[in-house]
Amino acid sequence: MSEPGLGLRRQTDVYLAGVRGVRQPVPFSFAKLESSAKRRMTREAYAYIAGGAGLEGTIDANRAAFDRRRIVPRMMRDVSDRDLSIELFGRRLPTPFLTAPIGVLELAHRDADVAVAKAAASEDVPMIFSNQASRSMEDCAAVMGDAPRWFQLYWSTSNELVASFVSRAEACGCDAIVVTLDTTMLGWRCRDLDLAYLPFSVGKGIAQYTSDPVFRSLLKPGKLEGGKPTLKGVRSMLEVNHAYPGGVFKNMRSGMAIAAVRTFLSIYSRPSLTWDDLPFLRERTKLPILLKGIQHPEDARLAVEHGVDGIVVSTHGGRQVDGALGSLDSLPRVVAAVDGRIPVLLDSGIRGGADVFKALALGARAVLIGRPFVYGLALAGEEGVRSVLKNFAADLDLTMGLSGCRSIAEIGADNLETE
Ligand code: FNR
Repeated sequence: MSEPGLGLRRQTDVYLAGVRGVRQPVPFSFAKLESSAKRRMTREAYAYIAGGAGLEGTIDANRAAFDRRRIVPRMMRDVSDRDLSIELFGRRLPTPFLTAPIGVLELAHRDADVAVAKAAASEDVPMIFSNQASRSMEDCAAVMGDAPRWFQLYWSTSNELVASFVSRAEACGCDAIVVTLDTTMLGWRCRDLDLAYLPFSVGKGIAQYTSDPVFRSLLKPGKLEGGKPTLKGVRSMLEVNHAYPGGVFKNMRSGMAIAAVRTFLSIYSRPSLTWDDLPFLRERTKLPILLKGIQHPEDARLAVEHGVDGIVVSTHGGRQVDGALGSLDSLPRVVAAVDGRIPVLLDSGIRGGADVFKALALGARAVLIGRPFVYGLALAGEEGVRSVLKNFAADLDLTMGLSGCRSIAEIGADNLETE
């Protein structure tokens, strides 16, 4: 007799816990997960996490691209044993997921990135450390044992800082560097503009910087100019000084926390970036380099030509260009342009096992799970993230089995119809 699959094991755990009167820490449907998490967060935190650019048309397009594709299940194929594992850059992973790099996780939970690191490590799901993390990559690596992790880089105007981040990522045992290209400036995010709130300007989400020797060497102590602050302003000032290492009062006196925010805002990204900058990175690391945010097939072709090792097709969760093509709609053309030479990953709009199945059917090697794990984090910290990851694996396992696929390799374009 074969072992029960991931899906059945998860269902059994959940239903038997129910017999003991125990419910799971996070809801199973995405809609409920999001609405429950919203109630746990401040208005500002929820707006920052859920929001998108402009009219948020790209958030809708991301979902519409999944909805337009429908799975056509096959029958009578002996699906009693299923294998969800994949190989990625020489490592075998039990499931075709990674956690997307998501900044400022302290907006969702006090334990932030460290809680995600523990949960991802326990499920052997690679965590991609965000350049805008709330906790340093060293803090996360310290709780992960040998579990896989990658580092996501925003290319700063300081190449010295870029080099420092990359060498720290190597020292932290990262398996790959993901360069996010789609955020050379922040998109026009109406929800954040309405609340006049950007987490970085109150010192949140800059832990990779404040823990970096090169960044710290750039700081020139300063004070915030302007008139007398409002009560809310005083609270923000306390937040800024609290966020910087060393203690609120010491930071107030030294002016270093304000200096960190100001310096971060002036150097965090480089809109002048071109393909000619890539050799700088290539010379500094032997790790695979992936480009995140590729949507045009011509850019995919250029990436291969420039010796890049992988691509993440992404709209940044609809947070950058309003009115863009849904991420899944870009995937087939990017996959065709790459023609099997390097792996293509995808994110933006992945909400359940069927979405993962559809992305794999269209040629993605793996997917990045984004907002769903952040909502799990908001609701139940490490345990909440673990639950979300377990649910994705179980859902995908059942979707595969019920569609007649025993392995990831068996998921193909003939399992999908486009409406
Ligand atoms: C992001 N994303 C992101 N990407 C990145 O490369 N570095 C980062 O620091 C962040 N930060 C970030 C914060 C928040 C709150 C969100 C929602 C997203 C984008 C992320 O990696 C991924 O592309 C999207 O989250 C995918 O969209 P969905 O599936 O979450 O809608």
